[in-house]
Amino acid sequence: MSGPLLTRIDHVGIACRDLDEAAARYAELFGLTVVCRETNDEQGVHEAMLEVSLAPAGGSYVQLLQPTRPDSPVGRFLDRRGEGIHHIGYGVDDVEAALATLDGQGVRLIDRRPRHGSMGAAIAFLHPRDLGGVLTELVQARPGQARD
Ligand code: CO
Repeated sequence: MSGPLLTRIDHVGIACRDLDEAAARYAELFGLTVVCRETNDEQGVHEAMLEVSLAPAGGSYVQLLQPTRPDSPVGRFLDRRGEGIHHIGYGVDDVEAALATLDGQGVRLIDRRPRHGSMGAAIAFLHPRDLGGVLTELVQARPGQARD
């Protein structure tokens, strides 16, 4: 593999108790608009993606996360730590190849195989214990998506 494994900062994931209120705050204070909203039942989360920048570098977003239930990962995070930064998502060219490389380097993988992320991306999480306490997400954007 040539070049850095991580190609860009894709998004900052922020846990909040009220997605509408948080989205309104980012709109009012920063002029950001929601470009995608979805519910991920598997992860137990309502998500809103607010676009910060587009091409040529690749899209970057604020990802607001509101738990759908208290026992979901984001629900437990809110209980323990309150609202705030939950994870950082980095762009990668090939999420499966990146997982194999990092696995070979001894990084603990939360996801051994990619799963579905917002806006059709393939994503995988790395364990914060090997990354200075930062929950880290790898994001391979869907080809042809504006997000690319
Ligand atoms: Co994310």
